[in-house]
Amino acid sequence: MKRIKAVQRALEGRSKPVYLEIGVKKGAAFRQITADEKIAVDPAFRLSERSRRLADANARATHYFETTSDEFFDTQSAFLEDRGVDVALIDGLHTYGQVMRDVENTLRYLRDDGVIILHDCNPATASIAYPAESFADFYQQHRWWNILWSGDVWKAIVQLRSTRGDLKVAVLKCDFGVGLVRKGTPESTLSYTPEQIAALTYKDLAADRQRMLNLKPWRYLDQFLTSEDRIAP
Ligand SMILES: C[S@@+](CC[C@H](N)C(=O)[O-])C[C@H]1O[C@@H](n2cnc3c(N)ncnc32)[C@H](O)[C@@H]1O
Repeated sequence: MKRIKAVQRALEGRSKPVYLEIGVKKGAAFRQITADEKIAVDPAFRLSERSRRLADANARATHYFETTSDEFFDTQSAFLEDRGVDVALIDGLHTYGQVMRDVENTLRYLRDDGVIILHDCNPATASIAYPAESFADFYQQHRWWNILWSGDVWKAIVQLRSTRGDLKVAVLKCDFGVGLVRKGTPESTLSYTPEQIAALTYKDLAADRQRMLNLKPWRYLDQFLTSEDRIAP
């Protein structure tokens, strides 16, 4: 549940912050987060009445979009431009390509001091990291007791660190890997081409995860959130 603590910490001290969550499911995170406005996006919400009540109680306004993140960004640009995004949690479809699109789309509306948090960036086993096309595809191909799926979200971290010299990117070593992204000069970069990233396997990650993910302990979060070297707007 450290992702929830990281989100709330990133929201602290902001004036009327806007929180976007992509992939909400039962609302374990969404109902706990306090922000001025909260935006929930999921093609298949599984929110109980109680979760929705709790989620609504922790915000001045909540907005629910029962759709995929691609459709949400395609149709809601005016809504997002009006508000901007202070903090986003990206935790929807766990494929590398989808996560890259979710990050790029969110960056279009992210405030200059905004933060994107990505869940599932540091899978501990090949099964958790299985590059399925969807949750259904993963469950079809695994035994019923293998319920944990992070997919190849980790490749989005490798791509961001290889291609975006304007973003600071790190992964906290907790809660399946809590990725952190904000505008600013990276402390270190990678040099993988898109073709090389596509060809990477879980074995490559397991052999070199510290360097590939810029893995950090939980206590690094405050340093990441408070460093001052943001790129000027
Ligand atoms: C791991 S759960 C989210 C958990 C939630 N963020 C939390 O912290 O409790 C992933 C959710 O992503 C949703 N999802 C799947 N494909 C999606 C897509 N294309 N866009 C947005 N959400 C998606 C699923 O319906 C599922 O509810």
